[in-house]
Amino acid sequence: MSFLELEALGKAYGGVDVLQGISINLSRGEILGIIGPTGSGKTTLLRLVNLLEAPSSGSIRLDGIALNDLPEKEKLSARRRMAMVFQKPVMFKGSVQENVSYGLKIRGKKDQKIVRSALEAVNLSGYQSRDASSLSGGEIQRVALARALVLQPEILLLDEPTANLDPKSAAAIDSIIQSLAGQSTLVILATHNMLQCKRLASRVAVLMKGRMVAVGEPEEVFDLGQEQLDIAVPW
Ligand SMILES: Nc1ncnc2c1ncn2[C@@H]1O[C@H](COP(=O)(O)OP(=O)(O)OP(=O)(O)O)[C@@H](O)[C@H]1O
Ligand SMILES: [Mg+2]
Repeated sequence: MSFLELEALGKAYGGVDVLQGISINLSRGEILGIIGPTGSGKTTLLRLVNLLEAPSSGSIRLDGIALNDLPEKEKLSARRRMAMVFQKPVMFKGSVQENVSYGLKIRGKKDQKIVRSALEAVNLSGYQSRDASSLSGGEIQRVALARALVLQPEILLLDEPTANLDPKSAAAIDSIIQSLAGQSTLVILATHNMLQCKRLASRVAVLMKGRMVAVGEPEEVFDLGQEQLDIAVPW
């Protein structure tokens, strides 16, 4: 039994399949990179794993337990073992401190120290009292990551976490991702950045039109012969 098992997972919207037959077993401490052209289903897959949406078919098992069959209360406790950083993160009204500590509060936890060190980790020390509505796009992206980090999730779902960042901030985020995986967090990272994927991922999954057309270690997927690569990564 693997830590997280996706089995024949599918999602349709209005009768149109956007994900089909996604099967993969993942362990703690892995970094799975998901790549694929726009519209291939990367975000949808993360949303299914995060239980934001129900799959149309297939199952998601965490520690062997099928999550989608669970009653709402237990689903919520499963969700609380994960955190997701959205492609376009939204800040709540209020300060950076309030935004980052929100998840801790609803879990009944207080720890200002964790908030401070999460902000330090994303290079935003001293931003606690800033009004979240005054942040730049890149700052919002990093506050959103800090908001996830404070929860110390067992599964971290990242949707294009460095898309709006300068190289220095992106490198800082890359090393956070690596150190989390070193601490046994399972990281699932959707990205258009193949270099980042090659650098970080322990395995790479290639999505095309909702199907996983290739999966393997970065060398296997990226170092495919040109002909195979054109099939697997044709954009
Ligand atoms: N709620 C929805 N209703 C209808 N269609 C949807 C919905 N959510 C996603 N889709 C469609 O599902 C497909 C996959 O979308 P998704 O956002 O998962 O792609 P993506 O790989 O994350 O793309 P990008 O690289 O642009 O972020 C797209 O065609 C999208 O329009
Ligand atoms: Mg997306």
